[in-house]
Amino acid sequence: MRKNIVAGNWKMNTTLEEGVELADQINSLLQGKEKNCDVVICVPFTHLTSVNAVIDPELIGLGAENCSEHEKGAYTGEISAAMVKSTGATHVILGHSERRQYFGENNEQLLAKTQKALEHGLTPIFCVGEVLEERENGTYNDVVASQVEALFSLSPEDFSKIVIAYEPVWAIGTGKTATADQAEDMHAHIRKVIENKYGKEIADNTSILYGGSCKPGNAKELFAKPDVDGGLIGGAALDAESFMGIIEAFN
Ligand code: PGA
Repeated sequence: MRKNIVAGNWKMNTTLEEGVELADQINSLLQGKEKNCDVVICVPFTHLTSVNAVIDPELIGLGAENCSEHEKGAYTGEISAAMVKSTGATHVILGHSERRQYFGENNEQLLAKTQKALEHGLTPIFCVGEVLEERENGTYNDVVASQVEALFSLSPEDFSKIVIAYEPVWAIGTGKTATADQAEDMHAHIRKVIENKYGKEIADNTSILYGGSCKPGNAKELFAKPDVDGGLIGGAALDAESFMGIIEAFN
């Protein structure tokens, strides 16, 4: 069966010292606690090794927020999947809307990044989601389907290793969450799109996370929906107590 996952996306926040402190706090709060989901924190590249040193891998998975589509070589400033993996990380966020919007990442590049991540044994948390205009003009189901379909040249075995995160762009950092029903409708749609290509078993086993202004106060209602398997959390992941509040929404 698919896993419930609560993943933090720290984005470009925290100095190294602050990040290590935050990871340490989350780790302490999780010690001895019952939880009904996997927990992952995705942190800036500069923090991976140091954060890895303070977290218990049994309690928390570690992820990066991006990786290169290239294996290695003359790509100044880029970080490869192999480099991410060598820090002890297990996950990598790919295709976040901020990467698509501000850094021009396109479907072809995101497929290549996903392949690199998989080759190096990282679990991609692959983000999809429509912008406000697409929500309002009614094209959101098609937009999100085509973002998921960008991965459909992957083998079934590879696709089954991917976690999807549905993040409506209009809900990210805006305080405007999708309603639990809007999230459920889209998650069920995504699962159907996956089923049409890879079959029911893989579709049923794919974890689909919701992201966009998810907070302790709304997580329970979102996670109660049958096709919502957890969250990708931005702002609320920067505070250990509120991140815990979201993890506890699964209890
Ligand atoms: P938010 O961000 O929780 O701050 O809305 C979510 C994300 O962008 O992953």
